Amino acid sequence: MRFGHFDDARREYVITTPKTPYPWINYLGSEQFFGLVSHQGGGYCFYRDARLRRLTRYRYNNVPTDSGGRYFYINEGGDTWTPTFMPMKKELSFFECRHGLGYTQITGTRNGLRAEVLYFVPIGQTAEVHQVTLKNEGSTPKRFKLFSFVEFCLWNAHDDATNFQRNFSTGEVEVVGSTIYHKTEYRERRDHFAFYHVNAQVSGFDTDRESFIGLYNGFGDPDVPSAGESKNTVASGWSPIASHGLDVTLAPGEEKKFVFLLGYVENPRAEKWEKPGIINKTRAEQLIAAFSSSEQVTAALGKLREHWEGLLSNYAVESGDEKLNRMVNIWNPYQCMVTFNMSRSASYFESGIGRGMGFRDSNQDLLGFVHLVPERARERIIDIASTQFADGSAYHQYQPLTKRGNNDVGSGFNDDPLWLILGVSAYIKETGDYGILDEQVPFDNDPNNAATLLEHLKRSFDHVGHNLGPHGLPLIGRADWNDCLNLNCFSETPDESFQTTGNRTGRTAESVFIAGMFVHIGPDYAKICEYKGQSAEATRARAEVAKMERAVLEHGWDGEWFLRAYDFFGNKIGSKDCPEGDSKILIEPQGYCVMAGIGVATGEAKLALDSVKERLDTRYGIVLNNPPYRDYHVELGEISSYPPGYKENAGIFCHNNPWVMIAETVIGRGERAFEYYKKIAPAYLEDISEIHRTEPYVYSQMIAGKDAPRHGEAKNSWLTGTGSWNFVAISQYMLGVRPEWDGLCVKPCIGKEVPEFTVTRKCRGATYRIHVKSTGGTGQVKLVVDGTPIEGVIVPFAKPGSTVHIECEAS
Ligand code: GLC
Ligand code: GLC
Repeated sequence: MRFGHFDDARREYVITTPKTPYPWINYLGSEQFFGLVSHQGGGYCFYRDARLRRLTRYRYNNVPTDSGGRYFYINEGGDTWTPTFMPMKKELSFFECRHGLGYTQITGTRNGLRAEVLYFVPIGQTAEVHQVTLKNEGSTPKRFKLFSFVEFCLWNAHDDATNFQRNFSTGEVEVVGSTIYHKTEYRERRDHFAFYHVNAQVSGFDTDRESFIGLYNGFGDPDVPSAGESKNTVASGWSPIASHGLDVTLAPGEEKKFVFLLGYVENPRAEKWEKPGIINKTRAEQLIAAFSSSEQVTAALGKLREHWEGLLSNYAVESGDEKLNRMVNIWNPYQCMVTFNMSRSASYFESGIGRGMGFRDSNQDLLGFVHLVPERARERIIDIASTQFADGSAYHQYQPLTKRGNNDVGSGFNDDPLWLILGVSAYIKETGDYGILDEQVPFDNDPNNAATLLEHLKRSFDHVGHNLGPHGLPLIGRADWNDCLNLNCFSETPDESFQTTGNRTGRTAESVFIAGMFVHIGPDYAKICEYKGQSAEATRARAEVAKMERAVLEHGWDGEWFLRAYDFFGNKIGSKDCPEGDSKILIEPQGYCVMAGIGVATGEAKLALDSVKERLDTRYGIVLNNPPYRDYHVELGEISSYPPGYKENAGIFCHNNPWVMIAETVIGRGERAFEYYKKIAPAYLEDISEIHRTEPYVYSQMIAGKDAPRHGEAKNSWLTGTGSWNFVAISQYMLGVRPEWDGLCVKPCIGKEVPEFTVTRKCRGATYRIHVKSTGGTGQVKLVVDGTPIEGVIVPFAKPGSTVHIECEAS
């Protein structure tokens, strides 16, 4: 069942009923100021850090699920309603939510009054615009009241949700004309404040939540809107809000627009006050002046559209499959950008007060956005590498505001260092900027202990080689990519973190997955060394990679698939020999080892992927492991803590499905790769939204696996490495266009189902127009470049400004 439709021409998803199976959200903001907004106007916003600088309050896991947001209440002759449906839930004769790239527009109509709210953050600004357009669609004049509403968060979202003994006494505001200023803690150490303004004369205002809503009421039956009269309250402690009251009249057919602006301002310490106790508002007034008319709003929205148009033009496909086009051209790169901005901090499943930026996550996120904003990718790489330790290991997470490693989580995730090599390689392949390798980058953020980025990569590479176990395979440490395979944890105590508790310090538990990564990523390191003239180091690296490949085939092969790991006691994990009730096969090494090319020549690769098909594939995607662990295993950790079919215990973890897709292209089975792609790509799931439940325009981290009662139901949408890996799989391997070290690789492997398509790829200043006829999915291609046939699949990089025409026959 559908709850809306795609509008590809406008790059929007149009939701046509408020009652979607779950709140379907969107993101506002591109650089510093961000907001989350649901299709019912729910959500919140923050400046840079969702935990430390939250402007508006949002209560997670609330009842009903999505309450709290930027609301507008209308009272027409005693009939009070909200055009976003929530929170008043009054029947609307028309409802529509258009989620676009960086903006959301929600429209509700009742009694012939049409109210449209447009939410966005203008490029380069630290403010949200909420433009309300009201139209009288009836035949008689209308006179009604409009009330705005936002509830302020007292900045630190964690403290705001826990420290009531203090916070109920600190709230402060100022009201001047049509602007409400929120200045809690500005009197002491904060140099920032927020404001909510409207570009019209108000008939009243409120800033005290209890007065506005009523102590025993909710957002759905608030006192002031229902009574139709603002109370002009000035908050003192408790919960500051901002509400404007406006009298509106509309002749039949008449339309009026109001521009509300929710802004964030920082003042230099010396310029904080206008006079004692009164905020210096100069900067706020400048911001207000920039958005005081709807013409200014229209211009700013135009700029936002152009911004996205520019970003998306770097990779575009035209094919006969509109779902494929909309995933590749619009929604998948959009999700990658959002993930770049948010990492794993703020979504409807991530509370914004939990995790910082992940070392592993951020490097993988890079793969999906490096072609959109290479300069920002460069900056991100330096930030990430600065949290590496001198021995090559790394902080698992770091804080976005301080860019410092997070001590609570620490290090010891032995896959982490390798992802840095992958991220840097992707960046250089995209840009040709080898200069980044010479940048001096600190270890553990200590400027006195710095080395070149190239040296960081060497230590990443060696961290694996220096930490091998009894079978010559990499030690897993706290965990590898699968955070929930905790082989040294041995936790028997509730509340202990599986990720940070290490109750044994064995050097036995080994990961075949990290071995696969090493073989996949090691050659990029060798290539980098070669480029820097270090051919002896390149030779050494290649020899280590070859040795690892032998170790995998000798000790990491189980007969029909790759083993997952050896546990603390040296027992096999993910083997046909595992006892009944344990998993016999896990997905990660199957995808990753084949991506690395292991066993391709000798047949193991094909066997492994056939086993995936037979044992892990389901109608909704490939599960992580099978059978699921039925009981808690102290020697395995969190993986066995989940009920069968959820999360890392046999859920469909969408992050690693694309590894299998890419692996299928490595052995020339493009049809099967595309079949897997379509099973989890959200646009293809639109018709089963009632089962899938999360947004049909973005990936979710997990879909419940076949062993779960709710098979097919997704959770944790938006912030997941799934976005970038699926983009890599479809754009670089199935459609087959990716920058390599020496040129643009063109090697489509998708099969007959997409018989003809054109990819336009901008890279290093040149444009490539690649027209593909696809008669089969074996990965065999013939290329004609500007009229001349070439050998192989690498098209040399062209001069900036030039356009290269490529004809490709893929069979
Ligand atoms: C989450 C984490 C990621 C991890 C994955 C599997 O998505 O963010 O780092 O690899 O789970 O456990
Ligand atoms: C939990 C989650 C996992 C995530 C990890 C991050 O283990 O289940 O998906 O990667 O937390 O710390």
